[in-house]
Amino acid sequence: MEGAATVNPLDLLVEYGKRVDPVMEKYLLSNAHPDFAEAVLYPIKMGGKRVRPALTLLSALAVGGNAEEAYPAAAGVELAHNYSLILDDIIDHSEVRRGMPTVWKKYGLSTAILVAVHYRESISEALNDTRDPEAFHEEMARVIKLLTDGERLDILFEQAGREDEPYVLSKRYRKLKLEEYLEMVEKKTGALIEASCFFGGLSVEGVDDEALTALRSYGKNVGIAFQISDDIIDIFGEEGKTGKKVGGDIKEHKLGNIVVLLALDELGEDSVLSRVLRKNEVSWEEVSAAINEIKKTNAYRRADSLRKSYVDAALKALEKLPDSPYRRMLESLAIFIERREF
Ligand code: IPE
Ligand code: IPE
Ligand code: MG
Ligand code: MG
Ligand code: MG
Repeated sequence: MEGAATVNPLDLLVEYGKRVDPVMEKYLLSNAHPDFAEAVLYPIKMGGKRVRPALTLLSALAVGGNAEEAYPAAAGVELAHNYSLILDDIIDHSEVRRGMPTVWKKYGLSTAILVAVHYRESISEALNDTRDPEAFHEEMARVIKLLTDGERLDILFEQAGREDEPYVLSKRYRKLKLEEYLEMVEKKTGALIEASCFFGGLSVEGVDDEALTALRSYGKNVGIAFQISDDIIDIFGEEGKTGKKVGGDIKEHKLGNIVVLLALDELGEDSVLSRVLRKNEVSWEEVSAAINEIKKTNAYRRADSLRKSYVDAALKALEKLPDSPYRRMLESLAIFIERREF
């Protein structure tokens, strides 16, 4: 594949991302009780696209390094991603991911929380094996705190539910500006994808600041586009492709989904969507009715053009790196993210 003029981004994810699976397994199994091993490995056995470790390895290669030297960092970012998903599925009451029961659904809430803590520590063990552990740990701590804040904002943007959660009830947003949505997305998804690229560069000795800044900028913009795609396929996707429930964000009253936000802006208060978002108990039939209403608005077109602006910014940032097959692979991954259906 190296040096190929045109590459299929899906082959890239399989080729580069999956190399990291045994590395993740090693850290997950270190200091794990044998009776806990199955639950601990379950999240990564469920599948997943491995976008973040692929970005780490390609970023290392794009600045003249080799993939192997970035393995611990790549394992660290994918472990961090899975850590966030275990918690996100508890927070979002999601029962399916990657076409399988979520960790809390399969093993129970208490066990899922313990699995998540185990992931957090496995990230640290992976980063101990990087070239400059202190720098990697510092960045990872910063990113996890940003991610946490993104998740905090996401639940505060919900329009109903969580009647037994005092913090959410006292701080909930009733209206949402586009800038507030973008801040949330930059934190919950952009920060880790930015770090995935930066970690690739940081794994290689002697990389200059300009290249590291370009990788960061590429990653952050790709990350925001990635979440916009996730929001679009939550509403317009197919469960058979995404492995997640269609309309889950509407069921969870989320105004912090760009399609919902833009559609509500057009439809106003006197709409099915507005009523469904503000209702505590929502059926899947009501979710479908809201999606049908959204289909009549310009929300898809507007979300798509916003996403395109982030992909364009990501491609522009890449121009600061020397031309190479790996830079072209990073380009094709950004374009894949713009069009993905899963
Ligand atoms: C899902 O991420 C959560 C978001 C940040 C949008 P992915 O779409 O990368 O999930 P997997 O790892 O491929 O399942
Ligand atoms: C992204 O948000 C999740 C994290 C960054 C942890 P979502 O809640 O939209 O992710 P999915 O759709 O459940 O994968
Ligand atoms: Mg979720
Ligand atoms: Mg969520
Ligand atoms: Mg989502």
